[in-house]
Amino acid sequence: MTDQTKTANTMWGGRFAAGPDAIMEQINASIGFDKRLYAQDIRGSRAHAAMLAAQGIISDSDAQAIREGLLTVLSEIEGGNFPFSTALEDIHMNVEARLKDLIGEPAGRLHTGRSRNDQVATDFRLWVRDQCDAAIEGLGALIRAALAQAEAGADWVMPGFTHLQTAQPVTWGHHMMAYVEMFGRDLSRFQDARKRMNESPLGAAALAGTGYPLDRNATAKALDFDRPMANSLDAVSDRDFALEFLSAASICAVHLSRLAEELVIWSSAQFRFVSMSDKWSTGSSIMPQKRNPDAAELIRAKIGRILGATVALFTVMKGLPLAYSKDMQEDKEQVFDAADSLMLALAAMAGMLSDLTANRDKMEAAASAGFSTATDLADWLVREAGLPFRDAHHATGALVAMAEKKGVDLDGLTLAEMHSVNPKINQSVYSVLGVHNSVASRQSYGGTAPDQVRAQVARWKEVLG
Ligand code: ARG
Repeated sequence: MTDQTKTANTMWGGRFAAGPDAIMEQINASIGFDKRLYAQDIRGSRAHAAMLAAQGIISDSDAQAIREGLLTVLSEIEGGNFPFSTALEDIHMNVEARLKDLIGEPAGRLHTGRSRNDQVATDFRLWVRDQCDAAIEGLGALIRAALAQAEAGADWVMPGFTHLQTAQPVTWGHHMMAYVEMFGRDLSRFQDARKRMNESPLGAAALAGTGYPLDRNATAKALDFDRPMANSLDAVSDRDFALEFLSAASICAVHLSRLAEELVIWSSAQFRFVSMSDKWSTGSSIMPQKRNPDAAELIRAKIGRILGATVALFTVMKGLPLAYSKDMQEDKEQVFDAADSLMLALAAMAGMLSDLTANRDKMEAAASAGFSTATDLADWLVREAGLPFRDAHHATGALVAMAEKKGVDLDGLTLAEMHSVNPKINQSVYSVLGVHNSVASRQSYGGTAPDQVRAQVARWKEVLG
């Protein structure tokens, strides 16, 4: 069943008498997925060719033929009529072989002072760097959508939860701004990672550098890298830039999943804190009443793929001896899938949030139920009746139990009933039992008071410019 009639690879097969087994070809080839690196590969090769000529390593006319031929290859690939070949293994050899078809002999001079090892490291860095930019842009749009919600609802009261039990009233704006902070840190993680990865591996050659008088600064500059990588072994063998990207993506996906989960809960009939627009909902083929938050559910699930990719690449890289090993070919599919998933999730969340209606009345009614101002009552007892906080907590607990038994909220207790727990309580206690007063009183920096929320919104607007 294996095919021994193949001829040896034209790119490296000089010492080979026979071609690869069919299964060998299948396990070895990466063209099925690394064709996605074509633009980066061609860009890197054009920069390398220009530098080789500038250094007098190849002639100007050869470099020109190579650079123009590569543009033809680029347009063939973009036009969808490029003859990708599995026998040619990967994007690097597919492009070079096609260049040879197009321009003949000068194509063979392109690989001078270069190896596929520094070539793939360069291509992949360029690709991941673009994905950092895409994530930064996607997060910017998402942050703006959350900011718009926060600004509109800076003083809309909703229940704040701990253990998913009503805890204290907060504002819708405050809750939205919590996500703005998380996504803001995600954004800065991608910025940090981008900055660190922005060094050029090109010119490291196979692993040891090269005897040709390359100008690594020139190729670094042409590819918008800050500088060449300082150690050729490191340049071809680390994939920490991809691990950093995946790590930042995983943390971001965790944040996305938490917001998605809240949107699923809040849009349920039992909550109705939010209504999702038709654009982001689906129906059921059997239950006519259903409006399902599928997009939110899928965003909630994306962390599975993204973290899966992260764990996969960490596992591939762990324990690999320096320098290049073919194991590292397994880096791409994981990163491609994680990046696609993240960008889609970011765009969907930004769209969903922009089109989301927060139901102010429903949220306020829920905030007023569930004894959410019990802490305010305890604080009143400390402030106005001079009780130690622990005693005030205990007395408030007794009042909550009394209200629960009576089937009312705290402000449904009469003064006489309150006096049975503590005789120092007076009429002014009722002013702290309302949810609006409760949130307005949380003036500590970062607290839920509408003034604080508006200050947070203003600060973020300034940051985003
Ligand atoms: N397709 C390979 C990869 O993705 C390119 C580098 C191959 N290098 C080699 N020495 N065989 O890693």
